[in-house]
Amino acid sequence: MKILLLGSGGRESALAWKIKQSPLTEVLFIAPGNGGTDAYGTNVNIKPTDFEAIDKFVTDNGIDMIVVGNEDPLVAGIYDYFESKPVLVVGPSKAGAALEGSKDFAKDFMTRHNIPTARYRSFTAETIEDGYRFLETLKAPYVLKADGLAAGKGVLIIDSLDEAKKSLKEMLDGMFGGASATVVIEEFLSGIECSVFVLTDGNGGYRVLPVAKDYKRIGEGDTGLNTGGMGAVSPVPFADERFMKLVTDRIIEPTVKGLIADGITYRGFIFLGLINVAGEPMVIEYNVRMGDPETEAVMLRVDSDLVELMQAAALGNLGDLELRHDPRTAVTVMMVSGGYPGSYPKGKVITGTDRVTDSILFHAGTARNADGQLVTSGGRVIAASSYGTSIEDALQRSFKAVELVDFDGKYFRRDIGRDLMQL
Ligand code: AMP
Ligand code: GLY
Repeated sequence: MKILLLGSGGRESALAWKIKQSPLTEVLFIAPGNGGTDAYGTNVNIKPTDFEAIDKFVTDNGIDMIVVGNEDPLVAGIYDYFESKPVLVVGPSKAGAALEGSKDFAKDFMTRHNIPTARYRSFTAETIEDGYRFLETLKAPYVLKADGLAAGKGVLIIDSLDEAKKSLKEMLDGMFGGASATVVIEEFLSGIECSVFVLTDGNGGYRVLPVAKDYKRIGEGDTGLNTGGMGAVSPVPFADERFMKLVTDRIIEPTVKGLIADGITYRGFIFLGLINVAGEPMVIEYNVRMGDPETEAVMLRVDSDLVELMQAAALGNLGDLELRHDPRTAVTVMMVSGGYPGSYPKGKVITGTDRVTDSILFHAGTARNADGQLVTSGGRVIAASSYGTSIEDALQRSFKAVELVDFDGKYFRRDIGRDLMQL
């Protein structure tokens, strides 16, 4: 098959690594890719939301399947754009992508299909007074979410009622532009989170990928600002058989069936952001793609042909294909630019990647400069992913890789997976 993968982050590097291993893959293109994805295929300078340019590329190169890494093209309707054309798209239709594109839609979907999630209500500028009153009925901390896509920054968790009211007004006044014209206010849930990924064929067939946990904050002990992800671990010890049965019965099945009942075409990955509230799984959010940096750990544990699975899902029939999980543990540690997630320099020369043999390096924010040197080009630079017999073992291997790779200002968290080791 000729495959076009859209995106440029660590997630796409991990997907490209896995896609390349499939005997079904004849050629792989990555648009736009990064300084590392050219190890798995050919980078093409096309924006993932430029459907016309993608269309032309697909036609000119006889592409059989488009794998969409990031949410933007899905929310913009790439599935619908190509639906009547001779190319498969792995991903939901625009209607399905609203599970990520609109938190209000997602909450409404969960309510309609009886899927456990935090109690909530949605407000606009016209109903702000009701919003204030709703906040008064909740206990601190207060969770305010911009309805639309806000580059992962649209969720505020606030301790005081007065501050929460002030933030509600600011959000409705355009703190996140149009994305916060509607604000979802919900009950705060206390527990430990994990990410469950499901590949569905839109006809009731689905497979569950290895479960992972990501680490979002910049600082150790989960402190400081949110980032695009500092590391991930798979499997997650508390996501045991009992917990996963609850996840399947209460969340995955009703989600897959709910999409069909609502007439929504969905042939791709569903990302369930879950929280374990005293042993009961509840949904924090849906995403309509794989997670980053979870994918950089999860792909190591997919012991089946992902291309065959994605093709079958995109064709609408997973049939009896198996999705086997590798029993080993995988840990990924993200190296980031000094200053991230605030401002940071770019163009720093990266050395030592060729010395890493025991881990897999998934490039995220890297590029080649005019001299062909590998340089930093983003906040999250390279993820080091390793197999191990335990979280500690895999973590130590990733640390060894992180020691070998260097660039000015390199930072990483040393406590990835630590909370899970203590359970
Ligand atoms: P989201 O963008 O919906 O994933 O939210 C970002 C983060 O905010 C989540 O990963 C959680 O850590 C936190 N969060 C979101 N909703 C809640 C909630 N209802 N209770 C507690 N934490 C939440
Ligand atoms: N790791 C969270 C996300 O991909 O949204």
